[in-house]
Amino acid sequence: MGTSKSGIISKSINVVFRKVNFGFGKSTKKHWHNDSPFITYFWSALSTAFPDGELFFMDAGRYYEDQIKDPVLKQQFKDFIRQEAHHTHQHNKMNAMTREQGFDMDKYQNWFLNIIDIMRAKTTPKTQLGISIALEHFTANFGSHYLTRESLSKGADPEMKALWSWHATEEIEHKGVLFDVYNEIKGDYFTRVTTMPIAWFGILAVTFVALYDMLKQDDRLFDVKDNIKGIAYILTFLAVGTPEFVRYFKPGFHPWDNDNKYLIEEWYAKNSHYVINKLKVA
Ligand SMILES: [Fe+2]
Ligand SMILES: [Fe+2]
Repeated sequence: MGTSKSGIISKSINVVFRKVNFGFGKSTKKHWHNDSPFITYFWSALSTAFPDGELFFMDAGRYYEDQIKDPVLKQQFKDFIRQEAHHTHQHNKMNAMTREQGFDMDKYQNWFLNIIDIMRAKTTPKTQLGISIALEHFTANFGSHYLTRESLSKGADPEMKALWSWHATEEIEHKGVLFDVYNEIKGDYFTRVTTMPIAWFGILAVTFVALYDMLKQDDRLFDVKDNIKGIAYILTFLAVGTPEFVRYFKPGFHPWDNDNKYLIEEWYAKNSHYVINKLKVA
């Protein structure tokens, strides 16, 4: 992959660790996404996947860290770990906020953890890396749609929007890292394409069950108007995500076939005030 155009872009990406601070917390509205319980709980449910999910991705890569020969990729991998660890830190904060509102976030987190534990116990390290690159493709594309389609973040609490947008930019920034590790260890096409639909379906299925549980607790299951709004929102995501789902099956696929790094630059041009470890630029 190193000599392909996408491989060259991937090598040129500077994966940057940014420590951030967002102002969400006690004063954040319960239904912080446009007064919609459905959409708010969709994001809250998805957020419970990150602490254990991101650790799983990190571990899948760490297993092969010694086999990474390319010094650029070695460094990118280190910075990928730092980024993911900080994502988890921020999502733990978000999950604590939702827990304070009376939701059993540990229950949802444990649903994800149980599945992850089974994958750790029953599948090979290569399969675990396959699952991880599939979900990195998921998060990078989710992120890309979130940043490019204003309707997906319209009406959201600005600090919550900042959290998800920041996470989106870094998922785009490091989308090639684990994928390049997979290529370095000669990961095969079959494992890559068979793990992807299972991984995408799995994360969405658990998210939707947790979303259902949260709506039930909030007595919003039969809020027809909000349900229609929420389902339309999810369908938009699924519709715009479908071409990326299909593209993954292409032999020779690489995440940077879609060069969208401009989204990272655009976001930081307006939002650098969230970064608290101002980096010295050489
Ligand atoms: Fe992440
Ligand atoms: Fe990631």
